[in-house]
Amino acid sequence: MAEIGRIGVLTSGGDCAGLNAAIRAVAQRAILGYGWRVFGIHEGTRGLMDRPVGCRELTLSMFDGNVLRMGGTILGTTNHGDPFHFPMPDGSYRDRSAEIAEGYHELGLDALIAIGGDGSLSIVRRIAEQGGMKLIGIPKTIDNDVPFTENAIGYVTAVDVATEALDRLQPTAASHNRVMLLEVMGRDNGHIAINTGIAGGADVILIPEIPYTMQSVRQKLEAVRAAGRNFGLVVVAEAVKTENGEPVITLGHDGKQRLGGVGHYLGRRITEETGAETRVTVLGHTQRGGTPSPRDRIFASAFGVHAVDLVAQGKFDRMVAWANRAVIDVPLRDVIDHNHPVDLNGAIVHTARGLGICLGD
Ligand code: F6P
Repeated sequence: MAEIGRIGVLTSGGDCAGLNAAIRAVAQRAILGYGWRVFGIHEGTRGLMDRPVGCRELTLSMFDGNVLRMGGTILGTTNHGDPFHFPMPDGSYRDRSAEIAEGYHELGLDALIAIGGDGSLSIVRRIAEQGGMKLIGIPKTIDNDVPFTENAIGYVTAVDVATEALDRLQPTAASHNRVMLLEVMGRDNGHIAINTGIAGGADVILIPEIPYTMQSVRQKLEAVRAAGRNFGLVVVAEAVKTENGEPVITLGHDGKQRLGGVGHYLGRRITEETGAETRVTVLGHTQRGGTPSPRDRIFASAFGVHAVDLVAQGKFDRMVAWANRAVIDVPLRDVIDHNHPVDLNGAIVHTARGLGICLGD
């Protein structure tokens, strides 16, 4: 058994719904179950770089009210500023990873629970290895692309939000004889798109895992029209490329490239190919914010409790995960070496095809 008295918890990478439920679960389990002190680190690993360390002690009374229900993260987070290549005010870059481990030791932490996606968990793990930090990971990301877990925190809420958008688009599509195209997030994969498309009755779903042709999209929409229906619903993941295989990106104010806009490209192409009046909705960050769904709160709570229990058992360098209706844990090393695209032979793709949904191929 490890000697534990103080643990840290941080949220890293893009926010999503359910992070606060996970922070709450970590604090409640650690304080009520083990009598430890819990420190919430501000803005991901950034707080551990600051001196004094950017953090606040978490107490039970902080979680009496609304926190469980709140979107975002009460600790703050960031998805830029790689500590190994950290942008400095003078425009240069510095490796500040050692400062993070120093911050951990300065705070007297016995373990750190990092709530992040595969990218941020891999960065924190590297820092933990080189700086002697004891680490447990909790998976979160609306993209649901963390391997070895059926669900990452935030994903279910994102699908709920996107499905509600489709529910709202369908009546207006039908009223105006239109094709409505909904672009959803998913940096490298189509989990949100295909699940939303099935739940929301889409005719066409395009995901980056399946190459598409406009001919196939046109045929489907023409078949819908020929069958007497006056509207069409299309869902596309932001990571889908143009017909020439080019990613559609926008340049952020920080000069960084971000996905987004393939929906407008495809909307134009659908009108060209079918003559249908097409409107495009890019859902964007609404999928990340807002009230977490009950299931995300449940995953987050189960993950938080299990993460703290692992610390108590002295099991480190592991990520908690959800598999076959149970919380399990897997080596963090394995998580980093794998990814989790939509399974082309799995039940979801089979279901979509079985419903007659066009997947673009
Ligand atoms: O990885 C989560 C995610 O929401 C992606 O789906 C999306 O491409 C990206 O983050 C957006 O990042 P940002 O918040 O920097 O715009």
